[in-house]
Amino acid sequence: MMKTVLATSIATALSLCAVQAGAADTELNLYSARHYQTDEALYSNFTKQTGIKINRIEAKEDELLERVRNEGANSPADVFITVDAARLAKADELGIFAPVKSKVLEERIPAHLRTERWFSYSTRARVIVYNKDMVKPEQVQTYENLADPALKGKVCTRSGSHPYNLSLGAALVRHDGAEATENWARNVVANFARAPKGGDTDQIKAVAAGECGVAIANTYYLARIMNSSKPEDKEIVERIGTVWPNQKSWGTHINVSGAGMLKTAPNKGAAVKFLEYLASDEAQAYFANGNNEWPVVAGVKVNNPALDKLGAFKADALPVGELAKTAAEAQRIYDRAGFR
Ligand SMILES: [Fe+2]
Repeated sequence: MMKTVLATSIATALSLCAVQAGAADTELNLYSARHYQTDEALYSNFTKQTGIKINRIEAKEDELLERVRNEGANSPADVFITVDAARLAKADELGIFAPVKSKVLEERIPAHLRTERWFSYSTRARVIVYNKDMVKPEQVQTYENLADPALKGKVCTRSGSHPYNLSLGAALVRHDGAEATENWARNVVANFARAPKGGDTDQIKAVAAGECGVAIANTYYLARIMNSSKPEDKEIVERIGTVWPNQKSWGTHINVSGAGMLKTAPNKGAAVKFLEYLASDEAQAYFANGNNEWPVVAGVKVNNPALDKLGAFKADALPVGELAKTAAEAQRIYDRAGFR
């Protein structure tokens, strides 16, 4: 009995501490590698709700990570937010994140989309886009199909070293094995219409122009073009078809946007509040709609014609934290296969 009372009072004292720490935090220092204008509303809404001011430092993820490392124990950073599971895992491997125990986050974010130290807030899918005059949809139903010799001289993609392709490679390693993935990468390279260059949007444009027969691209780039009223974008949409890859096997590869609290965070209370806020219905809608992504929280309404048009699909259920750990292996495999 005594033990229980003592334990309870310690727990109460601890939780009071946490509440007080949180109440004292009037500012939050956010290191952001996201670069979407719509995020403004996301942040100002948090300030409106909590009175906590956000000081945002925006830069490329490598610069931010370098900065955090240089600042060490004196870093003012509370939360690091970025896109791509491999990048979040890289930050985690550097040991910059603190574990966050939060009922709100556990309840709202599906288990396969969070780790102990970082949380996903939106998902995007990596899909196959093809030129309707050059390739039949039956030819490109899976990522594995892209290695088919029938597609010689038709495949386009951005660099193999880009985190989006590394995360995809990691998924292939997990599902098909390292050896099969290396063969796959070698054969995809042999099918290239041109050496990798540009971003996903450039691949979609090249497919529409007939320079490539087929390419891989993230859904938000595609949705951006689909939602555009520019005549040249409408023409692109006319010429291309989209496939949800691997619907009959492990599902379409998805990636995430996510964030974690720094272990050196001076405003830990504000940091946890912010991480929880990002999982609220309102924030989820901003977070996802702003960049044509899907919310991670079930039941949050998305108001996006392009995403509606793309419809539902079977997503890969592999935990993103696990996937991200395999990105370095995917890089070594791509290097050996000449997928640069
Ligand atoms: Fe992107």
